[in-house]
Amino acid sequence: MNTATPPTKPATSLKAASHSAHEGKTAQSTEMKALFCPRYGSPDVLEVRHLPKQTPKAGQIQVRITASAVSQADTMMRAGTPFFARLMIGLTRPKHPVLGTGFAGVVEAIGEGCERFKVGDKIYGETALDFGANAEYLCLDESSLLSHQPEQLSDAQCAPLCDGALTAWNFLHRLGEIKAGDKVLINGASGSVGSAAVQIAKAAGAEVTALCSKPNHDWVAEIGADHLVDYRNSDITKSDQEYDIIFDCVGKLSFGRCKKILTPEGYYLSPVLTLQLLINMLATKCSKGKKALFSATGLLPVPQLQGYLEQLEILITNGQLTTAMDREFALEEGAEAHRYVESMRKKGSIVLRP
Ligand SMILES: NC(=O)c1ccc[n+]([C@@H]2O[C@H](COP(=O)([O-])OP(=O)(O)OC[C@H]3O[C@@H](n4cnc5c(N)ncnc54)[C@H](OP(=O)(O)O)[C@@H]3O)[C@@H](O)[C@H]2O)c1
Repeated sequence: MNTATPPTKPATSLKAASHSAHEGKTAQSTEMKALFCPRYGSPDVLEVRHLPKQTPKAGQIQVRITASAVSQADTMMRAGTPFFARLMIGLTRPKHPVLGTGFAGVVEAIGEGCERFKVGDKIYGETALDFGANAEYLCLDESSLLSHQPEQLSDAQCAPLCDGALTAWNFLHRLGEIKAGDKVLINGASGSVGSAAVQIAKAAGAEVTALCSKPNHDWVAEIGADHLVDYRNSDITKSDQEYDIIFDCVGKLSFGRCKKILTPEGYYLSPVLTLQLLINMLATKCSKGKKALFSATGLLPVPQLQGYLEQLEILITNGQLTTAMDREFALEEGAEAHRYVESMRKKGSIVLRP
């Protein structure tokens, strides 16, 4: 993996930059390009617009973005689903219409009082509910979830770290209390969260069984899976094997089906919230036996997430964790990138290049 294959055809559905005041002009230094979502809907609603480039206020840094991620969360934000999420992201249309949360880039300017970063630093991070990362520039508080790019990874590999790897760490270490010798089953092992989970579980000393389709078996074995199962022609829930942790990264199994292949105190973990999972969580909350658990990683306090990033960076430095990369898209191909993510066929992560 880690190969980036830029698409050759430009997206035809994406409207060109259309701000009338700037027609016929190239972006000037006071402007920037951004992927703009004026209303909830299909990928066709996305536009590239020229917007004013913000200058950093006191306590803020300005980042020139070199790569930004497009994740499942970004497609949900664009679609405005699930509906209850609109209470946070905007009831009738996106409150923050520039999409994207995970990014990598270079510090271009710093506001008064900033001490954590200096101009020229290569950093990565995420904006959480402020969005705005699918753009050429971004201003955000220096106290946000940010870190220096580890030299072992490219900028494109850093941009999605706060989605896949951070989520996998939160689920396996905090919720699943993973330890050496655990038998861990990872469903969706070829996705962004799953491919990070395979590596994090291996680094913790677990024995990892990965569920993904056959064409992905070779590279998922290369990143550390001990056993591979093709979910398309085998029902893992009928296996004789028991697992200490089942991490259903894509929410396609269920606690009910997995119960019989969990050890007596095993955990069923899923980052995909459903009503059924909520009921399972409540029902198993006080039991000493098998538990079902969910967490919204991005809503945890920044200092806690920053601590997890530090742990991830130790694995990266030790060569135990990398970001599996699929394709790169230009910012103008944002709609195509969203369609690809929604296909549920991506391998690892994708990024937009502004
Ligand atoms: N709660 C949180 O904190 C949190 C944080 C981040 C993400 N999430 C959620 O986690 C989920 C996974 O995100 P992601 O970025 O890892 O997804 P992703 O990268 O888009 O997942 C793509 C992978 O899904 C696999 N897949 C598709 N259908 C499958 C099936 N029926 N069974 C098993 N695998 C299947 C595909 O594997 P094959 O091609 O090999 O079939 C593909 O590699 C999303 O719903 C996302 O919203 C939650």
